[in-house]
Amino acid sequence: MRFDIFTLFPQMFAGPFEESIIKRAQENGLVEVAIHDIRAYTRDRHRTADDTPYGGGGGMVMKPEPIFRAVEDVLTDSVGDSVGDTPVVLLTPQGRLFAQDVARELATEDRLALICGHYEGVDERVRQHLATDEISIGDYVLTGGEVPAMVIVDAVTRLLPDVLGDPFAAAADSHATGLLEHPHYTRPYDFRGWTVPDVLLSGHHGEVARWRRRQVLRRTWERRPGLLEQADLSAEDVEFLEALRVENAS
Ligand code: ADE
Repeated sequence: MRFDIFTLFPQMFAGPFEESIIKRAQENGLVEVAIHDIRAYTRDRHRTADDTPYGGGGGMVMKPEPIFRAVEDVLTDSVGDSVGDTPVVLLTPQGRLFAQDVARELATEDRLALICGHYEGVDERVRQHLATDEISIGDYVLTGGEVPAMVIVDAVTRLLPDVLGDPFAAAADSHATGLLEHPHYTRPYDFRGWTVPDVLLSGHHGEVARWRRRQVLRRTWERRPGLLEQADLSAEDVEFLEALRVENAS
């Protein structure tokens, strides 16, 4: 999969993709990340990428021409591709909320363009006539779309085939199943007197699986009860949750 990121601050991307899993995924040819400097697509002497808003008010607005030029140039660059085939995502607090299901949806694409807004915003014509999707990573306002773009690249990349060492890891994640994950432990068994639950050392796979499932249900019920409404629950799950409710009520 290929990501094309359009930004006024390419240096912001210097670190995050050069470590760990995303780095290895790039080295293994599973993912390609290209960073494009929007300012390189300006045509005036001052390389102007923003301007004051029509109608007045504070802040600056990102100009449409360099963004259109950058995206159209990059996406029509390669053989057999065109602007029309590749989703063009504008990162904005006004977009649809990013969540695991959106990551899964984006992971089915071959290529994705991500436009990082900055300042007060991006000229509306970018949203109307260039972007095909708008995504927000949460109900808070960041200084720009760069960190959201990194979040999306990270969340999507780890879902791609062969990126994670353990092929089942992504399937068991918090949120992948619609529920939160069970706790994890590793050595030492006793850390400062806090010991690992003995069931995990029992070697009894059935018992371990049952304990983990109950932890998943308990955690989700305690922290994000709303998630349980959409979840795929067995009769045993429902019974356990009912017991939790009773236990909690008494
Ligand atoms: N730009 C600023 N804040 C943002 C957010 N929460 N999501 C996406 N893009 C943004």
